Amino acid sequence: MKCRICETECKMFLDLGRQPIANNFLTRDQFDSEVFYHLGVYFCPACMTVQHRDCPVCSDVFNSTYPFFTGTSQAMIKHFAELAEMIKEKYLPADGSIMELGSNDGTFLEHFKDRDHMGFDPSESVNRIARAKGLSIFSQGFEKFPVGDSGRWQGTTDVFVSANTFAHIPDRHGVLRNIKRMMSVKGVWINEEPYLRSIIDKLAYDQFYNEHVFYTSIVSMRNVLKMHDLEIIDFELLPTHGGSIRYFIGHKKAERNEKIEDAIEREGLNSFEVFDCFGKDVEQRAKRFRQQLVDLKQPIVGYGAAAKSTTVLNYCDIGPDIISKIYDTTPEKQGKFSPGKHIPVVAYSQFAKDDTQDVVLFVWNHGKEIYDKERNRPRNWILPVAQGGAI
Ligand code: TYD
Repeated sequence: MKCRICETECKMFLDLGRQPIANNFLTRDQFDSEVFYHLGVYFCPACMTVQHRDCPVCSDVFNSTYPFFTGTSQAMIKHFAELAEMIKEKYLPADGSIMELGSNDGTFLEHFKDRDHMGFDPSESVNRIARAKGLSIFSQGFEKFPVGDSGRWQGTTDVFVSANTFAHIPDRHGVLRNIKRMMSVKGVWINEEPYLRSIIDKLAYDQFYNEHVFYTSIVSMRNVLKMHDLEIIDFELLPTHGGSIRYFIGHKKAERNEKIEDAIEREGLNSFEVFDCFGKDVEQRAKRFRQQLVDLKQPIVGYGAAAKSTTVLNYCDIGPDIISKIYDTTPEKQGKFSPGKHIPVVAYSQFAKDDTQDVVLFVWNHGKEIYDKERNRPRNWILPVAQGGAI
């Protein structure tokens, strides 16, 4: 495949096979019409961008039934409250304007409801909740994002925020052109995404699913920003989503930022070999994980019907004969079946009544929050990714 950024021929390092749409939880009568695609993950040897080849049409994914709500995690509510605090203190003038790309249920933007703000999101399921909080939300498909009625923001937007959104938009150059045009001279774009270095270190291949098109490394981010006269001013590592990176991005000023160049040197994500080794390790890890479950020879349940679980279940070929049900707190997923493998998703409230000992923690990235919540219900927690991955 040709790289979406620079059109160089890319090389595949991980073949996760035939996969359904990760958040497409189904009713029984939808089984026969389920959509699948091929999930191969590729590396571009020129601009070093990691990306999928195939991705379903955005409107098939981000629409009125999209079932991911940021506010289902207490840890994420706290995370966004802290980010809002930092922005008010350091980046947003009292009369300044803030825009969020991928505003979801407004968990972040509600902290700015009395300021000049705008949220963009293509999914009406989440927009309804954000608007009920009194927020201004523009419904916009990610394919042509962010355009529309945004004229008054040209060159005046002080702060852009995107958390787990930039990686979802295939037209990366389109987004960057718009941000470049809309950002004020001293403006900042704060962008967070799962960090490839953490994905590799934790063998967290479950982060690969159709909602993401790209996976970020500092080197690839620096390269694509340069094409638009933008630059990483600073970054920090975060524990969210199992290991994320938060970039602070501005208009290009310095020829060379030593902190960024040193970090690129240290992250070591500029050669195919690193990714090739990762791909082989994932294959082994997935085989061992499946065998571990089969060898238990007793009932197993899942915890958290996350999008991530879809990749694991389908790649490892794990169905209801191995994991009988998955508990989840999201009402929109309950009573439905997991994509591809059709494992029943049941209400979390029943978990306390179930004494099944072996529980696969699909939401290992919320490990701290969950171990704390379940401290009075000791279980044999099994992690689908590398041991030690729960943070
Ligand atoms: P998450 O790892 O945040 O996201 P993703 O879907 O992107 O992989 O998982 C979100 C799902 O996990 C959501 O369906 C709610 C569920 N969940 C629980 O059931 N219990 C919990 O304690 C938490 C934190 C999440």
